[in-house]
Amino acid sequence: MNSRPHVIVNVAMTIDGKLDTIERKGATISSGADKQRVDELRASVDAILVGGKTLLSEDPSLTVKSADLRSRRLAQGLEENPVKVSVVSQADLNLQGDFMTAGPARRLIYTTKRTLPEQVHKLENAGAQVFVRCEESIDLRDVFQSLYDQGIQILMIEGGGTLIAGLFQFGLVDELFAYIAPQIFSGASAPTLADGDGFLNGQAKHLHLESVSKFDNEGGVLVHYTSQSQ
Ligand SMILES: NC(=O)c1ccc[n+]([C@@H]2O[C@H](COP(=O)([O-])OP(=O)(O)OC[C@H]3O[C@@H](n4cnc5c(N)ncnc54)[C@H](OP(=O)(O)O)[C@@H]3O)[C@@H](O)[C@H]2O)c1
Repeated sequence: MNSRPHVIVNVAMTIDGKLDTIERKGATISSGADKQRVDELRASVDAILVGGKTLLSEDPSLTVKSADLRSRRLAQGLEENPVKVSVVSQADLNLQGDFMTAGPARRLIYTTKRTLPEQVHKLENAGAQVFVRCEESIDLRDVFQSLYDQGIQILMIEGGGTLIAGLFQFGLVDELFAYIAPQIFSGASAPTLADGDGFLNGQAKHLHLESVSKFDNEGGVLVHYTSQSQ
């Protein structure tokens, strides 16, 4: 890869490292103060990427919620919202859902041939740009090159754990923010910060601690790490 965006992963997780309960319905983990921080982070980036399961199960809007922050972006000559991006093997998302309708925002969908041509046309007619890859699974390095070529220099990742594991596997994470809520979800099948196949002993990815802050009055902690190559 020649060039890629600067990549910032942001998650909210429980003390036991879970991004959701075993129900996988998008459990609330962030505090009010954390939601505000996330909105500020969103407002500072060029694009936001989510994995396919997060897209299909949560249908996130990925927009900047604060009118002030959106006005600030416009005053800086930016679009009101960052570009919304997803990597999804079969892009059978709801055309009337929040990802497709909340905005204004550009929408980029990287998918495979498992998405039928008819659905690709529907997504395009609804305003999304769809990139169909021939391979079984989507090469994240290729996606990042494509994003960079389209002018995206700072990319925020909003989960889930399978996507994040893939990013760590290919050394594609520059920064990680994790809000840790004082809750335990438990459950071996509940998604964690980095799922995927797992790294063997000796192949662990190492991070550099930038800061830890006692973040709110709800017992949450914010940790900020950078990758060691930073
Ligand atoms: N607390 C938080 O901050 C937070 C944030 C986001 C999500 N979540 C939660 O996390 C859960 C979803 O996470 P998840 O790990 O199951 O899924 P995910 O990371 O959102 O999506 C992974 C799926 O995306 C598709 N995909 C296509 N190309 C890929 C690639 N190159 N690399 C990785 N994935 C690719 C695959 O779908 P196929 O299997 O169909 O091929 C893969 O299974 C939900 O419960 C959601 O609510 C929590």
